[in-house]
Amino acid sequence: MAKIDMNNLDFSYKETPFRYVSNFKDGQWDEGGLTDEASIVLNECAGVFQYAQTIFEGLKAYYTKDGHIVCFRPDLNAQRLHDSAKYLVMQPFPTDRFIEAVKEVVKANQDFVPPYSTGGSLYLRPFLMGTNSVIGVKPADEFQFRIFGTPVGDYFKGGVKPLKIQISDFDRAAPHGTGHIKAGLNYAMSLHALEAAHEAGYAENMYLDPQTRTKVEETGGANFIFITKDGKLVTPKSDSILPSITRRSLMYVAEHYLGMTVEHREVYKEELKDFAECGLCGTAAVISPVGMVHTKEEDIFFPSGMDEMGPTLTKLRETLLGIQHGEIEAPEGWIVRIV
Ligand code: PLP
Ligand code: COI
Repeated sequence: MAKIDMNNLDFSYKETPFRYVSNFKDGQWDEGGLTDEASIVLNECAGVFQYAQTIFEGLKAYYTKDGHIVCFRPDLNAQRLHDSAKYLVMQPFPTDRFIEAVKEVVKANQDFVPPYSTGGSLYLRPFLMGTNSVIGVKPADEFQFRIFGTPVGDYFKGGVKPLKIQISDFDRAAPHGTGHIKAGLNYAMSLHALEAAHEAGYAENMYLDPQTRTKVEETGGANFIFITKDGKLVTPKSDSILPSITRRSLMYVAEHYLGMTVEHREVYKEELKDFAECGLCGTAAVISPVGMVHTKEEDIFFPSGMDEMGPTLTKLRETLLGIQHGEIEAPEGWIVRIV
């Protein structure tokens, strides 16, 4: 295991000592537990390899100022994994056991939770896959659930420096052209579009709805939030984007902590030029500001500029981080203490 420099963390995989594993076979989940084996050996015909029957979650464990290790709303990750499993015809992992497994992994890898001063966290990756062999197209009936942790810093290099993004020429579509689906997002289908964005000098893509290409959906790994010139929070409503836990939390924070008006509705590409601020929100992204969106017709620069995050997104980000780190009182049940 390589030594990890906790003061210079990027968003990459670094192996930590323990992960949680549980297997579903003959109609039941086994007891599950920790293992130090990071590799997985499966039959070549396993459902995960042949038909990509796999789903994942992402959440963070991190130090609070007063020395506890906590995570943020893991019950919502447990529920979303459950919903994703149903969608991809997989055996859901019990939601109460999910939270216990998160705690076990974090405790076992406590030395790999970045210190509070670094601003980093232990990113946890729970995932579920079909493990038995299937050659005709059908769901597996044996599954493995795992959670590993890896210490991470900012998802986008440069922290809160505004990003330039582009409207993607590609739809992040499922193979059958239905648009990306709620939970079992096929991320491999977005890699081509992401490479195209990077080659053109943009950090990410803004995906539009595949049917009409007039409405804003989300980006590769985050939902969008916009601030209007009169200070409202607007965020796209769509059945084909991931129901981001960060976005749902920010909607609550904006309304109940900052007294803002929140609009969760369809957002049209034509409206982009009217917004004052734009950000990407997610577990990995937290809130990362967007300064500019490149479209075929024009480059849209938000009034918040390319130098720093705008004032309202800054207030939202500080309030969210304050709640997550125990410096601002959290709504009941949002913060789960592990250590
Ligand atoms: N949208 C996509 C496609 C994602 O991969 C993620 C990250 O998990 C999000 C949105 C943000 O979701 P959350 O806030 O639950 O991390
Ligand atoms: C997250 O924010 O947890 C994500 O899953 C985004 C990305 C790493 C895919």
